Amino acid sequence: MKMRLVFAAAALLAVSVPAFAQEEEAGAEVETEALEPEHFHFHFEGPFGTFDTAAVQRGYQVYREICSACHSMEYVYFRTLGQQGGPFFDEEYPNPNDNPVIKALAAEFQIEDGPDDFGDMYMREGRSSDAFPSPFPNPQAAGAANGGAVPPDLSVITKARHHGPHYVASLMSGYTDAPAGFELQPGLYYNPYFPGRAIAMPPQLREGVVTYGDGTEATVEQMAEDVATFLTWASEPKQQTRKQTGLAVIIFLIVLAGLTYGSYRAIWRNLH
Ligand code: HEC
Repeated sequence: MKMRLVFAAAALLAVSVPAFAQEEEAGAEVETEALEPEHFHFHFEGPFGTFDTAAVQRGYQVYREICSACHSMEYVYFRTLGQQGGPFFDEEYPNPNDNPVIKALAAEFQIEDGPDDFGDMYMREGRSSDAFPSPFPNPQAAGAANGGAVPPDLSVITKARHHGPHYVASLMSGYTDAPAGFELQPGLYYNPYFPGRAIAMPPQLREGVVTYGDGTEATVEQMAEDVATFLTWASEPKQQTRKQTGLAVIIFLIVLAGLTYGSYRAIWRNLH
């Protein structure tokens, strides 16, 4: 009797242990929780951080040549690029609407305008007063062209996502092959930084896909960092001026506190 019990227990163990192990293995394969973004060293972070103009310009180039094919930035106007603190600011043109570089950048885009006298909409070259347009006439068309997912407007994307620029840079440089066992629906791509790890945006950055004017090597990480820098600048173009004003205000307050204390001492010196 005892013997039989031992056999039964051993048999049960023999059957259940491998099954349990297998289950655990399968569980590890289908990890779908997003990874924490990598930490990038951005020049603009911290209370004294400033935007590296060359990086913002390179990031603009990446947005222009790659991302703008699917993503609008409808709250960012071309002229903002030429304002003080913008990547194409030129002291010769304090009014960015006069800046020929800005005019040329805007003119590269086609903007829908109208209606004309016949009630028809028409396309024209962009002007510095226009915003970065959507390449699709409406969200339905955008979804139809992207397997049902609508590419979001990127005007404030670094503010709209947790870990902002670190997330965007990780997402853009983080595509890998799906691990064995991960079920990827057709039209989706594996990206461990995206919630659910399956994203409808195909990988965008390949080494050398842009040629930087300043000679910087266009590695995937470099482009991801640059475009995240540009998008952060775009989400708050006045950030730099705001930080500088804040610093000036703090210095002023310190000097004022010193002066106040000095005059307090001077007034009371002879009254004690
Ligand atoms: C071929 C079209 C296409 C291009 C080009 C493209 N994207 Fe996307 N992007 C998409 C689509 C579609 C989505 C929505 C994905 C989803 O919800 O699964 C998306 C989503 C995103 C998101 C949001 C992810 C989230 O957390 O919701 C970011 C950020 C983004 N793209 C950045 C970029 C950047 C930066 C570039 C240029 C380097 C770029 N995209 C180029 C199609 C594109």
